[in-house]
Amino acid sequence: MSDAPPGAGLAAAPDLAALSVLVVDDEADIRLGLRRLLATLGIEARQAASGTAALQQLEVQPADLIVTDLNMPGLTGIELLTEVKARRPETVVVLLTGYGTVQTAVQCLQAGAAHFLTKPFDNAEIVGIVRRLGGQILARRRAAADDGTGRPPLVAEDARMQRVLELVDRVAPTPVPALIEGESGTGKELVARELHARSAVAGKPFQAVNCAALTETLLESELFGHKRGSFTGANRDRAGLFAEARGGTVFLDEVASMSPSFQGKLLRVLQEKLVRPVGGGADVPVEFRLVAATNRDLEEMVAAGTFREDLFYRLAVVRVHIPPLRDRPDDVGPLAQHFLRRIAAECLGPDQPVPELTAEARAALAAHGWPGNVRELENAIQRAVIVCCGERILPFHLGLDAQGWGGDGTRSDARTGTSPGPREHASAEEAPGTPLGYADAKREAVERFQREFVQRALERSAGNLSQAADTCGMTRAALQKILKQLRIDRAAFEATGD
Ligand SMILES: Nc1ncnc2c1ncn2[C@@H]1O[C@H](COP(=O)(O)OP(=O)(O)OP(=O)(O)O)[C@@H](O)[C@H]1O
Ligand SMILES: [Mg+2]
Repeated sequence: MSDAPPGAGLAAAPDLAALSVLVVDDEADIRLGLRRLLATLGIEARQAASGTAALQQLEVQPADLIVTDLNMPGLTGIELLTEVKARRPETVVVLLTGYGTVQTAVQCLQAGAAHFLTKPFDNAEIVGIVRRLGGQILARRRAAADDGTGRPPLVAEDARMQRVLELVDRVAPTPVPALIEGESGTGKELVARELHARSAVAGKPFQAVNCAALTETLLESELFGHKRGSFTGANRDRAGLFAEARGGTVFLDEVASMSPSFQGKLLRVLQEKLVRPVGGGADVPVEFRLVAATNRDLEEMVAAGTFREDLFYRLAVVRVHIPPLRDRPDDVGPLAQHFLRRIAAECLGPDQPVPELTAEARAALAAHGWPGNVRELENAIQRAVIVCCGERILPFHLGLDAQGWGGDGTRSDARTGTSPGPREHASAEEAPGTPLGYADAKREAVERFQREFVQRALERSAGNLSQAADTCGMTRAALQKILKQLRIDRAAFEATGD
């Protein structure tokens, strides 16, 4: 190792101390040197004298980052790397060697090493690499987890959304029922959870039920409980969510879809704080704080006679209106960044950088009308992360097309919220009863998008792979990989280009 002062000129990086780092080398001097060097970053690294010893240690205590020698007796650095990646792929590995050839470097990187360094090392270089990789690990960890409060972070930079949170703050400590109103995908459930978290009953359960997702009988038994044998499938007594809330919050989503008879039953519970389990005689006292949500105008429904007026006034003691995303432009950028960090942490390997939104992509996000609100933005970022195959997100990666905006620059039907979102999103939502789970729906949507997008590029380039890859902003190899995955035959496009 060279004698250059390691951390010279570098600011302290206190959070790197949270990293679990393992140094592996058969030479004790090198281990000592590396550990001292890492200590200048606040990292207390563990050590192992061989690959086998390292694997044994990792069984007990996994590491975020491993700095290992390449040539060691017994298990080599590459073998260790391969074993580690097979067991815990998110582990970041840096390889060090005294005999660096291009061939070994390539071999190491192909096996999943994050970095490859040849001896003698430049201390400042090692420090720089560990700082960078460590910073990425911590950023991913932060993005993947929540903010430590036990709930997902709620982005609210726009003044309108901040007013919503101020209202939530005022309402939360009181026991009054609240009605959260807003178009689909605006964040009603997230706000309901925030309200609960800021309430006096935050330590008690939050019980959520979507009234539109259940038949009336199931909804009744879900909320009020049931006695064993009261209907097919009721194999044991169930207390129901009002009782299970035990003084916490009951969140009733999509209340507009309750039938008139169920509205009557719910009104009774709210007035008397008593539930009668399905198939059971006695009333049971219950205690809860009620938060309801709707994407429909309940007042209009009251006027039309489809929603009980007395129930409406019971539910809507305080009304929290969440503005559609198009009316809170200052939230678009911060939300996009928030989803980007989270989704990149979930979808990309630990050695891949979080892609960056180009100025053009940010402009496209700002210009879009967002008929599907925050959920549509989340989907757009997810799609971009998956298809961009690189470090830069360009507008077409977002797949926004002209949705939400007319070709003349005016908004289309965004205001009514009736415009379909991205095609795959619409198909997943438009087929009621389709038993697709989230993971399957996502896979199907991504695949359909990839197929369409790649085929269009191949059509335009008349089957020329390099040209198609260029227009897609991806490498030829990445495009080839997608073609292989989707079994698309490039040659089939040669005849179509004229
Ligand atoms: N302000 C926000 N900050 C961070 N994430 C958000 C925010 N608003 C919404 N989201 C995310 O967007 C998605 C949709 O939000 P949510 O489910 O709360 O909306 P909703 O209004 O209940 O939708 P729906 O009417 O379709 O039930 C969720 O993944 C949620 O975590
Ligand atoms: Mg919801």
